[in-house]
Amino acid sequence: MRNTFEKTLLLVALVAAAPALANAAAAPTAASLGDEIFHDTSLSSSGRMACSTCHDPANAHAQDNDLSVQLGGPDLATPGFRAVPSLRYMNLNIPFFFANDGTPTGGFTRDGGARDLVAQAHTPLLAAHEMDNVDAAGFAARLAQTTYADAFRAVFGANVFAYPETVLLAAEFALSEYQRTDPEFHPFDSKFDLFLQRKLMLSPQELRGFALFNRPDKGNCASCHTSTRQSDGQPPVFTDYTYDNLGVPRNAEIPANADPAYFDMGLCGPFRTDLAARTDLCGQFKVPTLRNVATRHVFFHNGAFHDLKSALEFYVQRDTDPGKWYPLDAEGRVHKFDDIPPLLARNVNTTEAPYNRKPGQAPALSAAEIDDVIAFLKTLTDGYDPITNTADPARDVTP
Ligand code: HEC
Ligand code: HEC
Repeated sequence: MRNTFEKTLLLVALVAAAPALANAAAAPTAASLGDEIFHDTSLSSSGRMACSTCHDPANAHAQDNDLSVQLGGPDLATPGFRAVPSLRYMNLNIPFFFANDGTPTGGFTRDGGARDLVAQAHTPLLAAHEMDNVDAAGFAARLAQTTYADAFRAVFGANVFAYPETVLLAAEFALSEYQRTDPEFHPFDSKFDLFLQRKLMLSPQELRGFALFNRPDKGNCASCHTSTRQSDGQPPVFTDYTYDNLGVPRNAEIPANADPAYFDMGLCGPFRTDLAARTDLCGQFKVPTLRNVATRHVFFHNGAFHDLKSALEFYVQRDTDPGKWYPLDAEGRVHKFDDIPPLLARNVNTTEAPYNRKPGQAPALSAAEIDDVIAFLKTLTDGYDPITNTADPARDVTP
């Protein structure tokens, strides 16, 4: 069996060999088909769910509701397991690998289990709690009914619908091309981008927040959410694509958590299975981009927080005031790190700022400093308009 990457290469070759189309301007491409598929609710068992349902373009390609996990499947009643990440700037994400010092890096989804955007698209198209096409045949049958089925044939071959597996792979490739190449996924037009381009100055409060974000003795945020240009000159994406275990509290709003034996432990499973033996990695999730973070409705992999301020307070008060964030156990003691099995609680990061404090100590950021950091984070929202000093991540960026 070929791996997905080889299959992708094969597909690229097939696409390149497709007969030239008469009218180049109107000719469909893999990316334009990806655009159609991304927004097409008919490609789901409910008939009401598309990629864009959860990854809403108007909300920086993340969820636009407050649910910790979304509802999919035939009746839009089957709950998922994780909060929806934004798809913005995913084109700069890299396949999963272990760096020379052993640090897990890159990969798609919050546990890095998908090697690229092509492989990633497989899950939502088929999964019972998402678009629920079950298998390639089910998906291909739905795609064959769409208004763009002929365009699909024109790009991927006249006979493509004879091979459901190829239809599915071609659609995944199309979705990947759309996300990779369409500027709406990576506009780099936030207030912070204009600041980096020396086109404007941030306000005093935003500048204070930026400094607190970077300072190793204060937020220390930039040690994981990189705030400087990448080595290739790309503007920062506010992630170093590594993984960490923050000890985020368990979220009772996730139905799967009703089972006390169920734990979502990211890198070591249960969804990702290849690192199940690496118990030292249990509880680690990918560092997400903070671009557009002020437009998120839920925060962290399990959506345990519903507003940015609480998420930031958790960061700096987790160790100084644990009783505020975790429930009491049977003996009446604060059950710190309650979303990881007790024997693995030592995996939680307790050495780096801002989580290196003790109960009763002052948090790394005061309430006023948290407000400053939030003011800075708001400069990372796409679609900034200098005249009104507002940002609209849904702004049309078609060239
Ligand atoms: C029911 C809601 C839902 C639908 C529909 C959905 N997604 Fe997602 N998407 C999610 C969730 C939740 C995650 C996080 C999954 C994880 O970490 O395991 C995610 C993760 C992703 C990621 C990885 C992001 C990252 O940070 O690495 C990509 C890319 C993606 N989705 C693309 C798509 C595409 C393309 C479609 C349509 C084929 C789609 N999604 C449909 C909810 C959804
Ligand atoms: C040691 C690495 C590390 C440091 C330091 C760090 N973060 Fe994070 N951050 C992460 C990881 C990992 C996640 C995802 C955790 C999860 O999903 O459980 C995350 C998630 C977040 C989220 C949620 C974003 C979303 O889309 O759900 C916010 C907001 C955030 N960080 C802001 C900050 C701020 C502000 C600071 C500084 C006060 C900071 N982080 C410091 C690693 C770090």
